[in-house]
Amino acid sequence: MVYYIRFLKTPRFQKQKPGSISVSALICITTDLGDAFLAQDVDLLVTLGLNHSGKILYQEPLSWKAGKRELPIMLGPFSANIAQQTIVLGVAATDSQKRRSPSPDRLLGNSSLPLVMSAWSAPFGRSPSSVAEKLVERRFGPKDRLGLRIWEETGNSIARHIWDAAVASVIYLEQIVTGDPAVSVPLLQKLLRGERSSPLHVLELGSGCGIVGIALAELLPHCSVVLTDLAEVEDIVTQNIAVAKPAHSSELEFCTLDWDDELPSDLCGGSVDLILVSDCTYNADSLPALVSVLSRLVQMSPDAIILVALKRRHESESVFFDLMQSAGLHNLHLDQKQLPSQHDQFDQIELRCYGREERQMLPNQ
Ligand SMILES: C[S@@+](CC[C@H](N)C(=O)[O-])C[C@H]1O[C@@H](n2cnc3c(N)ncnc32)[C@H](O)[C@@H]1O
Repeated sequence: MVYYIRFLKTPRFQKQKPGSISVSALICITTDLGDAFLAQDVDLLVTLGLNHSGKILYQEPLSWKAGKRELPIMLGPFSANIAQQTIVLGVAATDSQKRRSPSPDRLLGNSSLPLVMSAWSAPFGRSPSSVAEKLVERRFGPKDRLGLRIWEETGNSIARHIWDAAVASVIYLEQIVTGDPAVSVPLLQKLLRGERSSPLHVLELGSGCGIVGIALAELLPHCSVVLTDLAEVEDIVTQNIAVAKPAHSSELEFCTLDWDDELPSDLCGGSVDLILVSDCTYNADSLPALVSVLSRLVQMSPDAIILVALKRRHESESVFFDLMQSAGLHNLHLDQKQLPSQHDQFDQIELRCYGREERQMLPNQ
């Protein structure tokens, strides 16, 4: 599984002797669930940069050692003038042979995904505060192509951070949209690459921070993406929508949708082509509600395709497949995507397309 650099304490200025100041933070490196720390040594590069220009002011190597649960960062002392500027602190895993300023993680653009996801802090310094907000920014993609930027919260919320299946969904969707020959999934290729006279209507359930739907809206012109989740994600997802750069004629919006509630009558203008669901099957108790909302959406739009990305975490999740079958939602296509894991291992994410008709049905899994 992928590991994520997290801020246990976000960066802040600390006054030293008169006229000097240092920058401190506390990080750890854990799985998406936060249930395990990275148990291998990794070289890190910590960077202080100007918020607006990105100009690097200072950088310093650091090491994460197997067995650690946290790692303090203490940079400086610097001249107190540094606190007059608005700064961002970045922490990235790096190749110890080539220490240089960290670039965005290569999620997009046919490049391999890193084992450790870098973290950038919220701005701090002169404004708005000398302590960075409890947020972390993930930056994906080569600089010259699509650059996806997603904010997460630093706490332990399930909803307000990125999960591994979402990362796999973004890679998968990017491969389909760009026509990567390594992926052959005609149902989705037709939907995402075919001619369209009207915008493609996409709905994401349990969007969390919104990474999957936002990535699709940035990749695909002429699509309308509605991200949905419980009200608790509204602040973080609207912050991400505000900084997103949708492709030509594409748009993004968020609306609250609890799977237990009625569907709003005006959802997606009453018709949806693609439903995205990533890492929403981890809790067996909520699976009947999830399948019920999927079933109601497909009644509303009988031709809709559902793309479910899941990482098998417990045996109990397999009830999802039975519930989908009972609801008449058939598994039309199955792909697996490998994500890197520690000690050169890999983790499997399943990407399953479901639909109402038995178009190219797989045997029941
Ligand atoms: C593990 S998170 C996955 C978030 C995001 N899709 C990702 O992969 O990064 C599961 C999401 O499902 C949402 N969720 C759980 N129960 C829900 C319900 N009854 N109605 C709507 N959303 C729900 C949670 O709020 C959370 O955002």
